[in-house]
Amino acid sequence: MQRRSFIRIAIFTSLSTQVFAKEKKIKFYKSFSQELNFPDVLKPTIHKNGLKEFNLNLKESQVSFLQNVKTKTYGINSSFLGPIIKVQRGDEIKINVLNSLKEKSVLHWHGLHLEGNCDGGPNRSIDPNSSWTTQFKINQRAATYWYHPHTHEKTGEQVFKGLAGLFIIEDKDSNKADLPKEYAVDDIPLIIQDRRFDNKAEFLYKYSMHDVMMGVKGNIFLVNGVIRPYINVSPKTIRFRILNGSNSRFYSFEFSDKRGFYQIAGDASFLEKPVEMKSLLLAPGQRAEVIVDLSDLKNKSIYFGDSYSDESLLKINVKDEKEQKFILPSNLTKIHEYTNIKDLSSLKRRVFTLNMSMGFLGINGRKMDMSYINEKVSLGETEIWVIKNPGRMPHPFHIHGCSFRILSRNKKQAYLNERALLDTVIVFGNEIVEVLVQFNYKASKEYPFMYHCHILEHEDAGMMGQFTVEDKTI
Ligand code: C2O
Ligand code: CU
Ligand code: CU
Repeated sequence: MQRRSFIRIAIFTSLSTQVFAKEKKIKFYKSFSQELNFPDVLKPTIHKNGLKEFNLNLKESQVSFLQNVKTKTYGINSSFLGPIIKVQRGDEIKINVLNSLKEKSVLHWHGLHLEGNCDGGPNRSIDPNSSWTTQFKINQRAATYWYHPHTHEKTGEQVFKGLAGLFIIEDKDSNKADLPKEYAVDDIPLIIQDRRFDNKAEFLYKYSMHDVMMGVKGNIFLVNGVIRPYINVSPKTIRFRILNGSNSRFYSFEFSDKRGFYQIAGDASFLEKPVEMKSLLLAPGQRAEVIVDLSDLKNKSIYFGDSYSDESLLKINVKDEKEQKFILPSNLTKIHEYTNIKDLSSLKRRVFTLNMSMGFLGINGRKMDMSYINEKVSLGETEIWVIKNPGRMPHPFHIHGCSFRILSRNKKQAYLNERALLDTVIVFGNEIVEVLVQFNYKASKEYPFMYHCHILEHEDAGMMGQFTVEDKTI
């Protein structure tokens, strides 16, 4: 992407929160002294007919993010974040979600193609000590997706406390691609989040009007739930699957020595060809897969960091081993979706203007209202959604139940690394982004799909709308 921030070298700078840490004698672990955590890959029960059944349990817990004190958290089958659900295209899956929290919650399968009544949204909430079972078939491209709560007006807070996990889909292309694939060895998930703590080391979410308008941002960064971790890798090419799992913070990821890397996938598919990059911009909700060659770093270390905040997030120690060479595949997939449209001008256009003014967040002049269906879409029809951001602040616009492609960004082409299938797109200030989108799964007015800004405080405050997808012929 052209958009460069003030590029400073992401050498770790000391944190301002050390001040409160001193007062309360709360100590951080020594920087980069804790190993990166790798979420478990959840084992399904496989039934005779091939159905894969997964169990998720949302629960309260606590975690020692800081050295001598525990922080109250939420987790899914673990004390913070959740396991990775990993499936193949074509799998029929069943997921049992048990809510062991003291409040309502629900899980949404971000980026997945499925009927509205199989998805979790604000209209489907699971009471405490109750469970919800959903079943659907995986029929979409290999990529790194994720899941998180979508509780009415509480998504931001519940994600902040720790509810989120990765959902990885593999398919023919990804299985045969000559890419690093060994989980936790050279295929490494990185869930990037920021948090702030109060002086008792509890998460500080409770927000002010400023937090709602600007989004809640923390000054402490977590990678897979660990503050400033390290990993040890061999001198070879590594694949990172990166999720910006933050509530509102945008990142410009890069390596401390400014080395180039290749982006190979966006939210919902591979790119057709790897795209060479020096920095990677990700908004909340977005994912990217990147490939970086570390074979020259035998017995050395570098940092993976964020140039916006000037923070190093992860230290990468390269082992003293024989280096392994890697040849990057030149073609990853062919994206045929949305390519054979003869007449763009014949497509239905819907305009979504993102509104943000003193104390008001909405879309097309309306706040999210659970009893109001904003749009009615016909099943299987390709449309152009025009997202207008007349303000200054960028908003990541996300649509449920589909994957789309960018048609234009202020009348220009999408950036090279955005030319994958996506489910979340950044709409910068004063920008108009057009996307081509098609919905192949139904959603009723009882369980409609959502479109919204993925800054979770904006979503919770009403920058969201609902739509149904119905068969036109009925
Ligand atoms: Cu990840 Cu409705 O969102
Ligand atoms: Cu979503
Ligand atoms: Cu927003």
